[in-house]
Amino acid sequence: MYIAFEGGEGSGKGCIIKFVANTLKKKSYKVLSIIEPGGTEVGNAIREILLNKKTLKISGMTETLLFFAARAQLIQDVVKPSLERDEIVLTDRCYLSSYAYQGYGRGVRLHDLDFLTNISIGNVLPNLVILLDVEPKLGLSRKHNQNEINRLELEKIEFHERVREGYLEMSKQDPKRWKVIDASQPIEDVQNQVLSIIMKALDKNKNNNKETKSEQ
Ligand code: TYD
Repeated sequence: MYIAFEGGEGSGKGCIIKFVANTLKKKSYKVLSIIEPGGTEVGNAIREILLNKKTLKISGMTETLLFFAARAQLIQDVVKPSLERDEIVLTDRCYLSSYAYQGYGRGVRLHDLDFLTNISIGNVLPNLVILLDVEPKLGLSRKHNQNEINRLELEKIEFHERVREGYLEMSKQDPKRWKVIDASQPIEDVQNQVLSIIMKALDKNKNNNKETKSEQ
């Protein structure tokens, strides 16, 4: 099962993923947590270029291609093998961040992103997408430490608002796969809601597997 966590800046993804990973491990599930961009040698090098505040002159398309380059390596080397071992992969961002940030945020054509998605990750797509939705003003105000702020977070508030609208639009287009959680709530409430969605999805997945086996 491949589960993606998405959301704007300061939505609390990292914290929630840690909580979910620990809880699932205690229940004896095999869990792999990853972060995009990153997770491979070349992916980490690309991450450094993309998020470093010193990278100033970079076009929307170059930025997009770099995110997809890091992703192609991660899917091939890490995600696919883990899913083949029947593990649960929890990812902090996935190709949908490219739609939200580079597509809706920067104006890269969604049609071009469809093509890049297809050639870089094919059919290795998350089964479930948890959107931690938060107003950009609130999310950005949660980042107190200046060292934590990356190049994209330096963008104007309007950029972050377009990113949020993009996420909400995508969630409306694919409501079966996307679950939207109000991330302005206290963290314990967000954790409980997310965990309950994931446990339900895992149960459903187990039952589907049983049915397919008994049909064979
Ligand atoms: P990160 O430090 O992991 O922050 P966050 O906690 O917000 O996820 O930085 C990832 C940054 O890269 C974040 O600002 C979103 C951006 N991003 C894109 O613009 N496109 C993408 O495809 C991905 C994966 C991330």
